[in-house]
Amino acid sequence: MKDTLPMDEKYKVHMSKYFEEYERSLKDVNGFWNENGRIIDWFKPFDKVLDDSKKPFYRWFINGKTNLSYNCLDRHIQNEKRNKVAFIWVPEKGEEKVVTYFGLYRRVNAFARGLLNLGVKKGDKITIYMPMILEAPIAMLACARIGAVFNVVFSGFGEQALAERINNSNSKTIITADGGYRKGNIIQLKNIVDKAIDLSNGVDNVIVVKNTHTEIDMEPDRDYYYDDIIEDGYVEPEQMDSNDPLFILYTSGTTGKPKGILHANGGYPVWIANTLKWAFNPKDEDRWWCAADIGWITGHSYIVFAPLLLGLTSVMYEGAIDYPKPDRMWEIIERYGVNLLYTSPTAIRLLMKYGEKYPLSHDLSSLKTLGTVGEPINPAAWHWYYEVIGKSRCPIIDTYWQTETGGFTISPSARLGLPDLKPGSATFPMPGIDAEILDENGKNVKPGEKGYIVIKKPWPGLMLTVNNDDKRYIDTYFSKFKGKYFMGDYAIQDDDGYYWLLGRSDEVLKVSGHRIGTIEVEDGLVSMKEIAEAAVFGKPDTVKGDTIVAFATLKDGYEKSPELIENIKKRIRNNLGPIMVPEEIHIVSTVPKTRSGKIMRRVIKAVYLDQLPGDISTLENEASVEEIKRAVDIIK
Ligand code: PRX
Repeated sequence: MKDTLPMDEKYKVHMSKYFEEYERSLKDVNGFWNENGRIIDWFKPFDKVLDDSKKPFYRWFINGKTNLSYNCLDRHIQNEKRNKVAFIWVPEKGEEKVVTYFGLYRRVNAFARGLLNLGVKKGDKITIYMPMILEAPIAMLACARIGAVFNVVFSGFGEQALAERINNSNSKTIITADGGYRKGNIIQLKNIVDKAIDLSNGVDNVIVVKNTHTEIDMEPDRDYYYDDIIEDGYVEPEQMDSNDPLFILYTSGTTGKPKGILHANGGYPVWIANTLKWAFNPKDEDRWWCAADIGWITGHSYIVFAPLLLGLTSVMYEGAIDYPKPDRMWEIIERYGVNLLYTSPTAIRLLMKYGEKYPLSHDLSSLKTLGTVGEPINPAAWHWYYEVIGKSRCPIIDTYWQTETGGFTISPSARLGLPDLKPGSATFPMPGIDAEILDENGKNVKPGEKGYIVIKKPWPGLMLTVNNDDKRYIDTYFSKFKGKYFMGDYAIQDDDGYYWLLGRSDEVLKVSGHRIGTIEVEDGLVSMKEIAEAAVFGKPDTVKGDTIVAFATLKDGYEKSPELIENIKKRIRNNLGPIMVPEEIHIVSTVPKTRSGKIMRRVIKAVYLDQLPGDISTLENEASVEEIKRAVDIIK
């Protein structure tokens, strides 16, 4: 952990600025956010920074009125940014499309008008299920403009997962495309939407972007082509209260259904714009590329909104980073002169596996800063990123955060002063983040000791609540350590005060950086007619982080067979989506359970990984462990 890489002197000089700002952010919350809250424009200024009278439901920038679409677009077109490029959209195959701030403004207005003409109103919920095409950010911004609460569902989710999110968010309008491209194949998104609607409580409008021009069914008086509803003109941005909901984004937890994380119109934009500025210090002329998908929080915050709030030029890429060839990422950097690259450890590990010859065959000298997000980055991947991609001259900004936190929480700050970097450490908290590490009893651990990372005080990017479930918000995030925000990750702080994130402390998986709840996959399995019980856990994988492994028992009358397993995988793919398909499914006659009937996943996982299973005194059926051992021996 002492493997420190001294950063350029020019950064070190400013490290004191970081500590100064950090101290001020905690000691003078009002002063700090009065100033930094003005990174966005307010139609009506807020008259109080923070209302913490209903803890833990913190409310920021009280009585302030604003609009995110206005802040991303209208204010830029009034100045020299009007004709600046907002997005260089790069398709999986073919030529890029470029859209300026004024062009984007025009298109967002036209779509906002289309939505209003369909009868969509402020406060209505809209599900967006789209590939990575320009109409996706346009749809998000158009919703924000008219005050509709958007709920983006990752286009890799299947019909059942989509239906559940449509229902839980109570969306009556869906925005989608006929299809999307993925590694040369077409994913029939509209067909999936049709099936999801059959499983849902019903929707009023489906808006379809013609993208792949594939044959689809269009239901009269419900389905409309995007091209047919857009209407040029100006739509007055709604004056949104700072604490009105802006969007819902579902994320997986350890219990029950996915949680709809609700973010606000005021605090969220303030947080993401400030954190992007602090962490990466983007310059006006820089080209930023966040290589994520808009279906996840990284895409919301750092593909769409924060770069637009700061008036940057971004690359938005439609496809997979290794398609059609393993050098696709490097080719894009060279071709478009990307200066700031933000990607994930899983992507780095994948590209590292292909070998150095791919990056070495491209001129990557435009790169200035490299970022990573989604899981802990292992030192080997860090070094490869730093040395092979950044030629040892680009700092690595390892950003630790979550869907619930809106934006970065722990990250080096290139603007306020970079610390010497330690490969694998996200370094120090962002201003406003009062982090600490606790043991099981809520006591501070000593430096070097592992514990649970919590945040003691609220910050503007913290979610408003869990959609329709205030109790779950309190139970999940503020109960383990009363009143403190529980992140669900293990961490260590070393002697120099650096934070090291060590992965989830619960049963949430990280599969290629995507957050998957074991329960969701188990629910998907046991909803099948053949399956009685299922236990799902993550198997460590050198590229993907985790891969999904399932052990299941069959109902009477069903026999295990390779065909059955393939068929189960196929159904999971359709129902939940490709990212939730277990790599291995093992059929056994019983799974280890406690006397009260709870499946002991940790025991199965330990046996599977050939580790000690820990305390098994509550185990009811010891024979099940033996059976799993035998099953594992056969596999290995
Ligand atoms: O476990 C942490 C991990 O990703 C979780 C949040 O997942 P999600 O809400 O999908 O958001 C991902 C993008 C922000 C965290 O609880 N995580 C995220 N970034 C890092 C990380 N773990 C270690 N280091 C990181 N930089």
